[in-house]
Amino acid sequence: MSKKLWGGRFKKEMHPALRCFSYSLAVDKELFDAELAVNAAWAKMLARTAIITQAESKAILKGLARIEKDLEGKDIARYVAEVEDIHTLIQSELEKRSGAVAKKLHTGRSRNDLVVTSTRVCLREKIAVIRYETSRLQKALVAAAEKAQGAIVPGMTHLRKAQPVLLAHHLLAYVEMLEEDKARLADTLKRVNILPIGSAALAGSALPIDQKFLAKELGFEKIARNSMTAVSDRGFLAEFLANLSILWMHLSRLAEDFILWNSEAFGYVELDDAFATGSSLMPQKKNPDVFELVRGRAGVIFGHLQSILTVQKGLPLSYNRDLQEDKPGAFDAVHKTTIALEVLALTVASATWQKKAMAKAVADDTLFATDILEYLVRKKVPFSEAHSTVGQAVRFAAESGKGLRELSLREWKRFSPGIGADIYDLFDPETSVRGKKTIGSTHPLKVRQQMDYWTRLLA
Ligand code: ARG
Repeated sequence: MSKKLWGGRFKKEMHPALRCFSYSLAVDKELFDAELAVNAAWAKMLARTAIITQAESKAILKGLARIEKDLEGKDIARYVAEVEDIHTLIQSELEKRSGAVAKKLHTGRSRNDLVVTSTRVCLREKIAVIRYETSRLQKALVAAAEKAQGAIVPGMTHLRKAQPVLLAHHLLAYVEMLEEDKARLADTLKRVNILPIGSAALAGSALPIDQKFLAKELGFEKIARNSMTAVSDRGFLAEFLANLSILWMHLSRLAEDFILWNSEAFGYVELDDAFATGSSLMPQKKNPDVFELVRGRAGVIFGHLQSILTVQKGLPLSYNRDLQEDKPGAFDAVHKTTIALEVLALTVASATWQKKAMAKAVADDTLFATDILEYLVRKKVPFSEAHSTVGQAVRFAAESGKGLRELSLREWKRFSPGIGADIYDLFDPETSVRGKKTIGSTHPLKVRQQMDYWTRLLA
């Protein structure tokens, strides 16, 4: 069994049940790389400040490099029953490789400031990866929008047909949301990238610890202004999970749209066989499980946000062991997010659009009711009068079992005398989208501009 970092005042060994209950290596093994980096910076700092000698520092650094080589990519899980946490693991491995000098590494610090320093270093990397994978999904969506080549679908409100929109416009709506998600994560880095170590257990250290050097060495932008905040606050993790939750809220909506589009009721999209699943009973089935898993996992991520908030609420300052529960949810969220973004990008990129189904869906005269309303407004009919007129025409057509375009000009003129034969030009999805004038509208030229903008930005 590995030696603890704190055995001195204890007469008995820890009960195996408590070991099982409290040990955290199974989770904090994720910190392996970050912890080695923090340890290396710490060893250099200890020599620069003459707390240890240059030779001792070199011996420690050599030992750390060997640990990295020996254990990197190895299954650290085999130590989880024996070793309390990542800090204890590296300490005991260092003692094996560097001998007595290893006992000087932990000088001037506590696991309280160490663990949160490693967590911040680790999270910084994870945020970079998540932002990168988000960009890849954005690119896949832009490519899918290009592939849709001007296809027009009924835009929906209340999941009922509303007005024609370019499918590309709908897809780019998600690219927009994901851009905001990346920006939120980038902003979170400002709160993540603050150096806590030097805070020791809670009060700071009486040794000449050089935090400026450590910050520079480890790439931190700032040094914690308050040692008690530094060791006991996980606001940065709550913020990370909140921003991740918003990202997942968007991923879940995207998933829901694809699930609908993939249903027989819509039939807009066919998934590649490599990104669909079958049924163990019904031989004909080809299901969109990718999207359902995304929608379901969004719920799990929201749960992790709830956990990090609830774990911290009511904790007296400063460090409490409750804070060890900050990591499982955060790491799980990172893993789920990274793989979900990757699989979504691949699924979207490999899907094929079913133009016929879209054309059929958009051949519905009621989709042009708003175009007729705006036509009347251009003929100086007051808006609410025009609204009521078109509403009556829609009802009349429905009651007579006709489409709006099947009403005769005489029938139309009964609703509004100013209506001319040009009203029949309006029953065309292409004309409808081309009629749009506002910034951000679904006009094909504006959508083209959006597409070019994203292509440039994401290159
Ligand atoms: N494993 C702990 C955590 O993740 C760090 C160790 C601090 N332990 C302690 N008893 N002060 O928060």
